[in-house]
Amino acid sequence: MKMPVPINVFRVFMQVVPRLSVEPMRYEDIAAVQAIERQVFASPWPKNAYASELSQNRQASYIVLRQEGQIVGYAGLWRVALEAHVTTIGVRAGDHSKGYGTVLFAALVQRAYALGARWITLEVRDTNDHAIRLYERFGFKAIGRRRGYYTDNGEDAVIMWSDSIHAPEFKRSFMAILNGLDVAGVGGGPSMEYPSA
Ligand SMILES: CC(C)(COP(=O)(O)OP(=O)(O)OC[C@H]1O[C@@H](n2cnc3c(N)ncnc32)[C@H](O)[C@@H]1OP(=O)(O)O)[C@@H](O)C(=O)NCCC(=O)NCCS
Repeated sequence: MKMPVPINVFRVFMQVVPRLSVEPMRYEDIAAVQAIERQVFASPWPKNAYASELSQNRQASYIVLRQEGQIVGYAGLWRVALEAHVTTIGVRAGDHSKGYGTVLFAALVQRAYALGARWITLEVRDTNDHAIRLYERFGFKAIGRRRGYYTDNGEDAVIMWSDSIHAPEFKRSFMAILNGLDVAGVGGGPSMEYPSA
């Protein structure tokens, strides 16, 4: 005989949320994002920067990473012509080296594929070894340097570059990282076919 589902069991089921999830950044996330940004960046963006990025910049794509509902990190990129330019990535202080940056960066790479980009580029402080290791893990290489790029201390920026994200080698190593992640909203990876155009 078919048993009726007790209503409280149904409610418990409905309340289950994935431990980690990547979601598009929304207006209501901005305060939490800025709180993290103040913790981890020497020069946080101006107060209204995220609001205008979300509302006015059609090239921009921003995401947040939630752990049981709470924002633990965020990241963004601009898609300009065939290039995706990483504009920011930050993980809550105290939660570094737990793999959250890897999740966020993987989600950005996925966005780059979805937006039709061919390459990904970014700038990183010369001394930011931790972030540089993260990008190197995704196959990024240093291709240049912007002297005195960071105005707060005059530090150089290292320019890093993915080369073609459609190259089989890039896709293979990206899929190996992606397959190791158990996070809602990251996506299933690119097609293994080289784009025809
Ligand atoms: C940079 C930042 C986003 C990285 O986030 P994170 O959550 O600490 O990164 P992860 O834990 O995913 O990975 C980074 C480290 O783990 C390593 N790592 C993680 N998983 C790994 C794996 N499976 N295999 C090998 N290495 C791995 C990375 O190479 C890197 O190495 P390190 O810990 O020895 O330095 C974070 O540290 C941050 O917010 N920093 C301050 C803001 C900032 O500098 N942003 C970047 C601006 S360009």
